[in-house]
Amino acid sequence: MAARTIAVVGATGAQGGGLVGAITADRSGEFAARALTRSPGSAKAAALAAAGVDVVAADTDDVESLKRAFDGADAVFCLTNYWEHFSVEREQAQARNMAVAAKAAGVRHAIWSTLEDTRKWVPLDDNRMPTLHGRYKVPHFDSKGEADQFFRDAGVPTTFLLTSFYWDNFIFFGLGPKPGPDGVLAITLPMDDRKLPGIAAGDIGPCALGVLRRPDLVGKTVGIAGEHLTGAEMAAGLTRALGQTVRYNAVPPDVYRGFGFPGADDLGNMFQFKRDFEPYFTTARSLDVSRRLNPSLLDFDGWLARNKAAIPLEG
Ligand SMILES: NC(=O)c1ccc[n+]([C@@H]2O[C@H](COP(=O)([O-])OP(=O)(O)OC[C@H]3O[C@@H](n4cnc5c(N)ncnc54)[C@H](OP(=O)(O)O)[C@@H]3O)[C@@H](O)[C@H]2O)c1
Repeated sequence: MAARTIAVVGATGAQGGGLVGAITADRSGEFAARALTRSPGSAKAAALAAAGVDVVAADTDDVESLKRAFDGADAVFCLTNYWEHFSVEREQAQARNMAVAAKAAGVRHAIWSTLEDTRKWVPLDDNRMPTLHGRYKVPHFDSKGEADQFFRDAGVPTTFLLTSFYWDNFIFFGLGPKPGPDGVLAITLPMDDRKLPGIAAGDIGPCALGVLRRPDLVGKTVGIAGEHLTGAEMAAGLTRALGQTVRYNAVPPDVYRGFGFPGADDLGNMFQFKRDFEPYFTTARSLDVSRRLNPSLLDFDGWLARNKAAIPLEG
């Protein structure tokens, strides 16, 4: 039987790259990856091609390029990168383009990497957190959650994949341990003592491959996480792994929103949502379901064992 072609948006990035890697490593021969990128000549794209992956040019801003890239695919993995442009309008236009192109290609299964529309829990007139960009509470969440409808409206057989906080943010997103005034390292989160679902970013793709083996998940929302941990528990894990004390610095969401880095208000609202709706948010990301989709799923200690040397510890 011919392999099922999986067209992967974001193939040169964390989520899509994990999916391409999982397909490449899969011995069943059931799947073949088609890696989409805006820059087929980039080093990352060249590395995929060298590994035998079919690399094709496509831009989610350009629906015709997506139609060409999705043509003949059995399934598609759809991703947006909000943090590249900080624009809800652009993220939603990209999601709509992917939904339209997936429908045109007649794929049997699409995965949309989404997040909650937090306004279902925190309406705009709920003043526990500020409204941002005029009509959002957590723009990079609400934008994706609202875009779920594009896939439904287009009639695309879609699984809505709710992802979790990447532990890799301790390396790449500026959220790693920083020395406090006393020189002791600390991670700072506005989560009080609530649990934050986290995941190794590289585990999202293997979970997505598990979803592609499950046609019964079409039309369903599936949440994934590697472990649910409090700030204190993550600090304890970092302490063990790094061999030096890391404290948990719990700050109020208002303080976090005021940190001033780009997106601090969005992330402050996001963490407050996760804090205030912890029972919902953790339950929506079942560890058992995640492990069944991806039996090699890492927990935080497993992630730390592989990544501790990459965590920057400077102030
Ligand atoms: N950080 C977290 O904790 C976290 C947690 C959950 C969800 N998320 C979400 O994850 C998303 C980012 O995913 P990621 O971490 O996998 O991204 P990433 O590692 O930063 O890589 C971005 C990928 O998106 C592709 N891309 C961006 N714009 C594109 C366009 N216009 N057309 C085609 N491809 C495009 C890039 O491909 P080329 O450059 O090769 O074209 C690249 O492969 C964000 O929307 C974020 O909200 C993040």
